[in-house]
Amino acid sequence: MTESAFQQCINPDCGATYPIDAVKVTCDKCQNLLDIRYDWSRLPVPRSLGFFEHRWATKGTATQGSLDFSGVWRFRELLPFYRSEDDIVTIGEGRTVLQQADLLARQMGVKPGNLLLQYEGLNPSGSFKDNGMTAAFTHARMVGARKVACASTGNTSASLAMFASLAELRGVVFIGSGKISIAKLSQALDYGALTLQIQGDFDACLRRVRQIARDPANGLYLMNSVNPFRIEGQKSIMYRILEARDWNPPDWIIVPGGNLGNCSAFAKAYMELKALGLVKKVPRLAVINATGANTLHEVFNNQKLRWNGGRYDAKAIQMMYAGMDEVGYLPHTIASAIEIGRPVNLPKALRALDFMYGVVREVTDDDILEHRALVARLGFGCEPASAASVAGLRMLLDEKVISPDESVACILTGHELKDSNATVKYHTGIDLKAVQDLAPRTEPHGRMSNRPIPVEDDLNSILRAMDGGR
Ligand code: F0G
Repeated sequence: MTESAFQQCINPDCGATYPIDAVKVTCDKCQNLLDIRYDWSRLPVPRSLGFFEHRWATKGTATQGSLDFSGVWRFRELLPFYRSEDDIVTIGEGRTVLQQADLLARQMGVKPGNLLLQYEGLNPSGSFKDNGMTAAFTHARMVGARKVACASTGNTSASLAMFASLAELRGVVFIGSGKISIAKLSQALDYGALTLQIQGDFDACLRRVRQIARDPANGLYLMNSVNPFRIEGQKSIMYRILEARDWNPPDWIIVPGGNLGNCSAFAKAYMELKALGLVKKVPRLAVINATGANTLHEVFNNQKLRWNGGRYDAKAIQMMYAGMDEVGYLPHTIASAIEIGRPVNLPKALRALDFMYGVVREVTDDDILEHRALVARLGFGCEPASAASVAGLRMLLDEKVISPDESVACILTGHELKDSNATVKYHTGIDLKAVQDLAPRTEPHGRMSNRPIPVEDDLNSILRAMDGGR
């Protein structure tokens, strides 16, 4: 299958291609992002999406390793980059639910039946990241990677650590010290990843892990969403929403925006489905930033940057980032999962907004917390970042950009228990994080204790800490 799938630079003036088993995250020629591309004429593409329905009958169980059990791989004809089915690393990810949230619809002033919540927190590691990780780990296995790494605001690291353990690869995660929720940190430790707590934020961690992965001598396979294989897996969130609606797209998809991998993946899914004639309609897209981490909002709404057929104003983005460096700008939001100032997938997000006729909004931390509580009060909940999608819906309804008669799917990206500190603080005023910081520490003495390693944001210190690991 390899020859009908390849990697290609997203810059139309470059368009450089690379073999599917090349390990890179940007184009060698112009440093732009890469897409996974397919020569569909040489691949067995279903004639209609209804084809996938028979997979429910053959799903088997996770222990049988059935691909049909996975909510990602039961759509494998739509992400056929793997060489053989034996390469696929799956644990039954993507078995998530699209809930018709009528109580919430009533509260929000949407017609009952029209508000849908896509619960990606029901994934094995508790967030949507598992959709992307299964695909990136499949590629890692195809190319024989031994050590995998990511920077993270918590969910990517939890997911990477889980898949690394199951695939018997060494997982290394870079997290900003004090920047991620304790529940997410506990997952990385429990699943046995080497956990580096870098003195810096997510952007600093990503810069470092990319720098280290760029040197092949370090043998580090990068698992952040700048890796185009992650995007392939995350397309499946759109397939599942379609599946739950008898293959009818909703009018709107609303998603929180952090590193902008999800929105990029959603548009790629629809670009391909449309080109293959598998859908007629493409939903509109709304990407919701937190006000304290609003780079996409700034770029799209204030600077009015557009994809422009791939000839977007890259200089303006560079200048904006240089300006952030100059004033020492650091993003800040209670929704720590999306506390990101320099989203790596920004160009792909501009493409997504163009193709899905999208809008971008920013919502305050208070709006996020109130909508998180509302979602939880009326059913099962989500973490703060996820609720940005519902807060964004409220804003777009108020602005009459979305009408109560339109169908809307809000993506709830992470499980409620991912950040119970935020929940407890909202309801009681007690900041458990502050309490933890004051608590006396004892030496961990469990036979499998896996302590996080504090490291300065310095290349040599990080390399030394990585060597100290197994
Ligand atoms: N929601 C949650 C719960 C997340 O964890 C993230 C990203 C996002 C939304 C934003 O998604 O990057 O596709 O725009 N978390 C990353 C992490 C950055 O490291 O776990 P995006």
